[in-house]
Amino acid sequence: MKAILLAGGKGTRLRPLTLHTPKPIVPIFDRPFLTYQIDLLKEIPDITEIILSLNYQPRRIEEVFGDGSDVGVHLRYLVEPAPLGTAGAVKFAQDHLDDTVVVFNGDVLTQIDLAAVIALHRERRAKATIVLTPVENPTAYGLVETDAAGNVTRFLEKPKPEEITCDTINAGIYVLEPDTLDRIPKDTNWSIERSYFPSLVERGETFVAYVYRGYWIDIGTPEKYVQVHRDIMDGRFHAAPFDGAVGRAVVAPTARVDESAVIEGPCYVGEGAVVKAGARIGRHAVIGRQTHVDEQAVVEGAITWANGWVGREAEVREAILGRNAHVGRNASVGAGTILGDKSVVTDYSRS
Ligand code: GDD
Ligand code: MG
Repeated sequence: MKAILLAGGKGTRLRPLTLHTPKPIVPIFDRPFLTYQIDLLKEIPDITEIILSLNYQPRRIEEVFGDGSDVGVHLRYLVEPAPLGTAGAVKFAQDHLDDTVVVFNGDVLTQIDLAAVIALHRERRAKATIVLTPVENPTAYGLVETDAAGNVTRFLEKPKPEEITCDTINAGIYVLEPDTLDRIPKDTNWSIERSYFPSLVERGETFVAYVYRGYWIDIGTPEKYVQVHRDIMDGRFHAAPFDGAVGRAVVAPTARVDESAVIEGPCYVGEGAVVKAGARIGRHAVIGRQTHVDEQAVVEGAITWANGWVGREAEVREAILGRNAHVGRNASVGAGTILGDKSVVTDYSRS
């Protein structure tokens, strides 16, 4: 059995962070996002290969994971010549599939029991099985209606508020039979949500829902990206680097923290980071690899990526700073600010 990770989107909602870092590898603490999904897929021994379906900045992703041996899996990269959409991308992989396939949106983080989903798919002899999860506002997702027997009866992508009929949405995790891919045209931009799933319903094929009520999030917006970090630090989602350290300050072994600095958990200080005398790393702060926090500076509720600089007496709160961002001395960076890679906030500036 193979798995396809759909990871070709441009990540527009996460700009400017995704201008030089495609969404599948934005760091969660210091780990590229896809590492979490690969960890989940690895738990299924039947999955012998993971296909990364890419088109936006594929080389950067390949550089991170190589053939997958470092993360303990066999990876294949398929790069579309132009974005083919979520169904077109699966079709593009068809020559490499001869068996049931697991498809995963490359931006969802969850603790789902994938083995149970596959078992349900087999038990029901389904043509397709989709994971659903309840959310408060389905408008940003694919709304999915089901009948009492757990069959999908309607799929409506990005419903308008007046079209909402239930709270279950597409969680972006599917198990599909390869013969159903014949209805997707080749080399054509085609949507799994708007065309493929509605066609399964129309033709009355066995299309089964697995409702999951555990942790699930799509990291595709800055708010959700920040939320994921907090969920891991606070233990709503159990994962590295907070395994066994929920609510605490996690300081990487090679970080150098001055003994007069104040580190308030939960927070994270990455490899090679430097925290100087009198600085304060407050709740929910994430200090990226090799980032320097100078004397008396304060970082609180903010995420800084690698190789950044927070100057003396500067304050960074509730913001996201891309790689190599530089905040000058006594500068203040406030809530909701997102600085792209190499941004410079000069001394005493306020944002
Ligand atoms: N290879 C490839 N090619 N991948 C793509 C393409 C493409 O042309 N377009 C999008 N993707 C990938 C994205 O990288 C992402 O991992 C996934 O497909 C879904 O695309 P998003 O752009 O993130 O869609 P969304 O979040 O608005 O909606 C989707 O996900 C929701 C759950 O998070 C839909 O599947 C909804 O129905 C669903 O509820
Ligand atoms: Mg998404």
